[in-house]
Amino acid sequence: MPIDYQERIPNNVDLANNRTLQRALENWQPKFLDWWRELGPSDFLAAEIYLRTAVSVDVQGWAHFGQVKMPDYRWGIFLAEPEADRRIGFGDEMGKPVWQQVPGEHRATLRRLIVTQGDTEPASVEQQRLLGHTAPSLYDLRNLFQVNVEEGRHLWAMVYLLHAHFGRDGREEAEEMLARHSGDADKPRILSTFNEPIEDWLAFFMFTYFTDRDGKFQLKSFAESGFDPLSRTCHFMLREEAHHMFVGDSGISRVVKRTLEVMQELKTDDPATVRAAGAIDLPTLQRYLNFWASSSLDLFGAEISTNAAAYFATGIKGRPDEQKFADHVANDATFALDMPGGEQTVALRNAMNEVTRAAYLRDCQGGLERWNRAIKAAGFDFALTLPSPRFRRTIGAWAGQPADPAGRILPPAEYQARLAEWLPTEDDKAFIKSLMRGVTAPGQMAAWIAPPTRGIDGLPLEYEYVRLQ
Ligand SMILES: [Fe+2]
Ligand SMILES: [Fe+2]
Repeated sequence: MPIDYQERIPNNVDLANNRTLQRALENWQPKFLDWWRELGPSDFLAAEIYLRTAVSVDVQGWAHFGQVKMPDYRWGIFLAEPEADRRIGFGDEMGKPVWQQVPGEHRATLRRLIVTQGDTEPASVEQQRLLGHTAPSLYDLRNLFQVNVEEGRHLWAMVYLLHAHFGRDGREEAEEMLARHSGDADKPRILSTFNEPIEDWLAFFMFTYFTDRDGKFQLKSFAESGFDPLSRTCHFMLREEAHHMFVGDSGISRVVKRTLEVMQELKTDDPATVRAAGAIDLPTLQRYLNFWASSSLDLFGAEISTNAAAYFATGIKGRPDEQKFADHVANDATFALDMPGGEQTVALRNAMNEVTRAAYLRDCQGGLERWNRAIKAAGFDFALTLPSPRFRRTIGAWAGQPADPAGRILPPAEYQARLAEWLPTEDDKAFIKSLMRGVTAPGQMAAWIAPPTRGIDGLPLEYEYVRLQ
C-alpha cells in the first residue's frame, strides 16, 4: 500500500479506514511532539536540516532527501510489504501460519517485549539531546539529527503496534513511553545502557557502533517473529538502523585516522603528546570502547534463560537470521556455555541469548579489524580489542565477577584497583570534553577527527547540511 503523505500521520497501514485507531494515534501525536520539544535535541528546532525521510517502503521511496525542520519531520508508520502465506520459521509452531492478531496466550509477553524495545528509542534521543552544541562539523550535526528523527519514528512504530493490537493496555503503555526518561531517578528508562549519559561525541560514536548494533540484533530476532505486524515493522526499521551503525563505524574510523596522522607527524605513541596535539590517544579510545561494548553486552540478557527458550518455542522471537541455521526446532540440541564454574552444557533453547550475543560480537569485530589494520599500516604496535563477555557484566552468570577485559578472573581488590585502566576516567572525560566545541562553518572539521570520505546523498562535504537560523 502506498503511503499517503497528506495524512496527519503518514502510514501504509490503512489508518484512514480505522477511525478509532486513527483518533487514538492522533491523540498521542501532540504528546509526542511536546516530548520532542522538551526532551528531544536541545535547540535547533528552527534549523533546516538535510534529512532523509521515508515516503514509501520500496527502494525508490524509503530514502527521500530534503531540507526539513525537525518538528516538521513526517514521523509515520511504515511496515514492510507483507509476505504472502508467511509461516512461522522456528520452534514448536514451525510451519503454522503467522499471526495477524496477537494470540491471547502471548499477549502479556508480546506487550512486554514491544514496550522494552520501544522504550530504547526515545531513550537514545534523550541521551543525545545536548550533543548538537558540540558537533565536530555540520555533516556530523546532520547525522546526529538523522539518527534522532529515525529513533523517533521507531518509537512511532512500536506505539502503533501497542495501539493497534493491545487495546487500552497498549494506549497506557504508549503514554508511559513518554513518561519515563533516560537517567531519571524516579522513572528511568527500562534498560540500564539507556540511562547512561552520552556527553561527548566519542561516546556517541561508541553508542551508535555498539548499542545501535544491539538494536540491529534485537530487531533481527523480532523480524523472525510469528506476530507478523511486529516482523514487518522490524524489517523496515532495520534499514534505518544500518545508517546509525554507519555513523558509529565511520565516526570511530575518522577518529582513528586523525589520531594516526598526529602520531605519525610527531613520531610518537605517547598518549600525553597525542593529547597535547589535540587528538584522542588510542588507549582512551580503548577505554571508551570497553565501557560501551560491555554495557551493550548486558542487553542480550542472561546466559541461561527460560524466557528466551519460551520465546523461541512459541514462535514469538527467533534467532537473528534464523534461515541460516540448519535446525529450526532446536529441541535436542545443546550449547556449551562459558560459565564462572567452567564450561556448562545446556539445552540450546535455554542459551538463545548467548547465540545472539555471539553473533553480535562477530559483527562488532569487523570495525576493529579495519581500525587495527590502519594502526598497523601507520607503523604502530597497538591493537584495539573487544572486551570479553565476562567483563563488567551486571546481568547473567558473569554479573559481579571480577574479570578483566581479557576475561581473566582477578582477586576482587586487584580488579577494583585496576578499573581505571580499563574504563574512561574522570581525567579522560575531562580531556574529551575539552575537545568538544561546535564547528558550524560548512566543510570545516574539528581537529580531533578526520573528514569523512564522502558527503551525504552525493553532495560535497562543503554542503550546508544544517542551515542554522
Ligand atoms: Fe531504533
Ligand atoms: Fe538506532
